[in-house]
Amino acid sequence: MKAVVWHGKRDVRVDTVPDPAIRDPHDAVVRVTTTGICGSDLHLYEVLGPFMGEGDVLGHEAMGIVEEVGPAISGLRTGDRVVIPFQVACGHCFMCTRGLPTQCETTQVREQGTGAALFGYSKLYGEVPGGQAEYVRVPQAQFTTIKVPDGPPDDRFVYLSDVLPTAWQAVEYAAVPQGGTLVVLGLGPIGDMSARVALHRGAARVIGVDLVPERLDRARRRGVEALDLREHDDIADTIRGMTDGRGPDSVIDAVGMEAHGSPVGRLAQQMAGLLPDALARPLIRKAGVDRLAALHLAIDVVRRGGTVSLIGVYGGMSDPLPMLTLFDKQIQLRMGQANVKTYVDDILPLLTDDDPLGVDDFATHHLPLDDARHAYEIFQRKQDGAVKILLNP
Ligand SMILES: NC(=O)c1ccc[n+]([C@@H]2O[C@H](COP(=O)([O-])OP(=O)(O)OC[C@H]3O[C@@H](n4cnc5c(N)ncnc54)[C@H](O)[C@@H]3O)[C@@H](O)[C@H]2O)c1
Ligand SMILES: [Zn+2]
Ligand SMILES: [Zn+2]
Repeated sequence: MKAVVWHGKRDVRVDTVPDPAIRDPHDAVVRVTTTGICGSDLHLYEVLGPFMGEGDVLGHEAMGIVEEVGPAISGLRTGDRVVIPFQVACGHCFMCTRGLPTQCETTQVREQGTGAALFGYSKLYGEVPGGQAEYVRVPQAQFTTIKVPDGPPDDRFVYLSDVLPTAWQAVEYAAVPQGGTLVVLGLGPIGDMSARVALHRGAARVIGVDLVPERLDRARRRGVEALDLREHDDIADTIRGMTDGRGPDSVIDAVGMEAHGSPVGRLAQQMAGLLPDALARPLIRKAGVDRLAALHLAIDVVRRGGTVSLIGVYGGMSDPLPMLTLFDKQIQLRMGQANVKTYVDDILPLLTDDDPLGVDDFATHHLPLDDARHAYEIFQRKQDGAVKILLNP
């Protein structure tokens, strides 16, 4: 089959690789019909490269049709239409039964000390072959699938794999009071959808920050007060000026470890990038190599007693944090990979023809899987209006 394969930093190719097959009685094989490229894939494309192996199949936002089901799986049949959550989880362990499938004790990657295995997400998360491919093997398929109705186009459902539950959790963790104000840093797919979810769920105001004009415009069209980072010398002051001098109730950081405007972290990432993988891996794991501009802005701007919700991914092990400010301002800080299945029942009823969250035209590009190399380039460089790219195998 054809698949998007990692070969090196900024080097992904569509290769022919062996077809996946059932290896464990709890597996299923799904024929992929649509698969997204995520901001998290860009971290693998760039700074997390040392954790990738040449030949790894990328992708964690797939949906399709069940092709084959292992003997231990009931409730799933060949021909079912399914979305595949980005994390592999069993559904019955201590963590899964507490709504934390990202920490699934059946699939935790204990050699690396990390949580649940993730599709297409490096050695850190189990090196599970990903879903940017014609077919994908789905372990723990009894829980690692979301059945969706036949009929509507894939765009209606594909974001259940990641974007929608991630945005939902970002908003949940942000704990915006009814009628309150939320700031969303980063208006990529995750920040944009978080803003939509927050407005839908009753936030009175959402202020967004980014530096890509078409991303700002897109958010403005959905009722976000969007600010261009480059047009404000002190963006925190601007935001305080818009919020009675106090700052917003809640802030979502939807930027993560590659934030623009973090010279120290940028240098560390560049140095790690020059080292052989065996040396770069411990450096990334033990040292502070995140670019922290967005996180520091979140802590600076949130009101006293407010909440910061980190949904952007971070990876350094000793990043400096302003503990005095965090403690003195009495800030609640919540974070983590999104627990996909936990939010599906809340989200599915919104995926109707009325389309309150605007999923039907959320994608800016639909491209054949064969164009993946080009798709990664334009998504990373923010060219050609690329905000969300879906690939069709
Ligand atoms: N926690 C999870 O489960 C989960 C799931 C999916 C994605 N993510 C993470 O969410 C983040 C966003 O993902 P995405 O798909 O939207 O990617 P993206 O890279 O398209 O979005 C990031 C946006 O942040 C903007 N930005 C950069 N520096 C900024 C700064 N200093 N201030 C404000 N904006 C800035 C960029 O212009 C871009 O629009 C990534 O870190 C990704 O890994 C986390
Ligand atoms: Zn993703
Ligand atoms: Zn589990």
